[in-house]
Amino acid sequence: MQIAVVGSGYVGLVAGACLADLGHDVMVVDNDQGKLAALRNGQVPIHENFLPELLNRHRGRRLTFSDDLQEAVRLSSVIFVAVGTPPTESGEADLSYVESVAREIAGGINAYKVIVEKSTVPVYTSEWVRKIILRHGTDPELFDVASNPEFLREGTAVTDFLFPDRIVIGCDTERSANLLREIYAPLTAGSYYQRADAIPQPDRTSIPAPIIVTSAKSAELIKHASNAFLAMKISFINAVASVCEAVGANINQVVHGVGTDSRIGPRFLNPGIGYGGSCFPKDVMAFRAVARECGYDFRLLDEVMHINEDQRQRFLRKVRSALWTLRGKNLGVLGLAFKGGTDDIRESPALFLVQALLQEGSKVSAYDPAAMNRSREVLGSAIKFADSPYAAAHGADALLILTEWEEFANLDFSRLRSELKYPIVIDGRNLYEPEVMAAQGFTYYSVGRATCHPDGVPAAMSKNGKKA
Ligand code: UDX
Ligand code: UDX
Repeated sequence: MQIAVVGSGYVGLVAGACLADLGHDVMVVDNDQGKLAALRNGQVPIHENFLPELLNRHRGRRLTFSDDLQEAVRLSSVIFVAVGTPPTESGEADLSYVESVAREIAGGINAYKVIVEKSTVPVYTSEWVRKIILRHGTDPELFDVASNPEFLREGTAVTDFLFPDRIVIGCDTERSANLLREIYAPLTAGSYYQRADAIPQPDRTSIPAPIIVTSAKSAELIKHASNAFLAMKISFINAVASVCEAVGANINQVVHGVGTDSRIGPRFLNPGIGYGGSCFPKDVMAFRAVARECGYDFRLLDEVMHINEDQRQRFLRKVRSALWTLRGKNLGVLGLAFKGGTDDIRESPALFLVQALLQEGSKVSAYDPAAMNRSREVLGSAIKFADSPYAAAHGADALLILTEWEEFANLDFSRLRSELKYPIVIDGRNLYEPEVMAAQGFTYYSVGRATCHPDGVPAAMSKNGKKA
């Protein structure tokens, strides 16, 4: 099928490349000439496993790049809209890009088309998109607007798209539902997975993918509710971790006991410095705002956001409790991306903490496997960008672990200790076992677990997390 995807960001580019790999002819449209030129020249603007492979496989054949939206609409049966929906000052989703794209799409409708929301949008957006297109004199019989939310995570975007837990299509007509069913048939019928060149199936996924057909409004809500629930799960376990710190319990043990309940499940119960990224922060705010507009005061989401912000302040207090004053202290930092596996620093808790520590007069030497370039654009020369975790630790008063990169979990501890001025590690992602760190001669602070000292004796913790 001939498909257009508007927006070549994380969602648009990954969706475009994967849809081409399913056998469709895909035109990815973007109004950023720089991005288009880079994509046409074979560059891959985002750090995602398997994406370079898919782009090499289909670029110039089943996958083309254009800035001419109306031509793409004329040539396509289905148009996926994956432009940005950033937050406004007051937290609502800014839908002006979606509206301007809808206006342009109207000018290209020369036969029956389905316009599909792929970006995360508040409920009712599909009705507005329909109104905008009708306002431009389009025949109401010539198009439908549907919602097909994307649940991919950065870092595992390609496999999340091709091996999804579910595919949700929100359609208010059978005609549009059938077209979307046809698009995803290689995944739902399972034929894609039989192919020798199919992207390998990751662990903990099941095939074929189930398809869930709902109304457009319900699909829009499924996306907001899913992201808000996952963010709530993270804030919940971070709150429990704070109770653990107050009473001297161990969050690992608590997570194991709670997560083994099949009604709860172990995933997304990793305590740390809070959630970040281009989705959870803005989607929780946008869901809170749209609920308010609909007359429901969704106060629970306020607490989800409050716990998340407080989690960063708690970590700063932990650094102060380890080092007393921060002015003039040299800090080694491992991780700048908002999570492991990506180069994305949008709403990164790590970056927030680095900037807060700089404001307190600390000197920072940081290392990240993928997000250095994007961080340099924000931090400039305010910090030292080290070329290895050990270089970041060199001469530091303490080492801070801020992003859950797998490679940080397998470091050479004795080399690390020899680089550090003081063997102090403050872990915002619980990558290490306290007993192991103590045995390695470190004073080790983490989230929801007692601080450990080289002599292996956990420090008694007082109510506010400070040492007694
Ligand atoms: C997008 C949505 O922003 C987010 O709400 C949703 O959760 C996931 O999809 P992302 O892919 O990360 O997120 O967006 P972004 O990286 O901002 O890319 C959007 C792309 O759309 C950019 O390349 C931008 O140049 C392009 N764009 C934006 C257009 O082509 N036309 C426009 O009018 C606006
Ligand atoms: C998220 C959703 O998972 C995805 O379905 C949606 O399409 C887009 O938003 P993403 O933002 O890429 O994906 O990252 P995710 O893996 O969900 O992590 C989000 C944040 O939560 C990161 O900062 C991560 O470090 C943090 N996190 C995640 C925790 O602190 N604890 C956890 O247990 C899981």
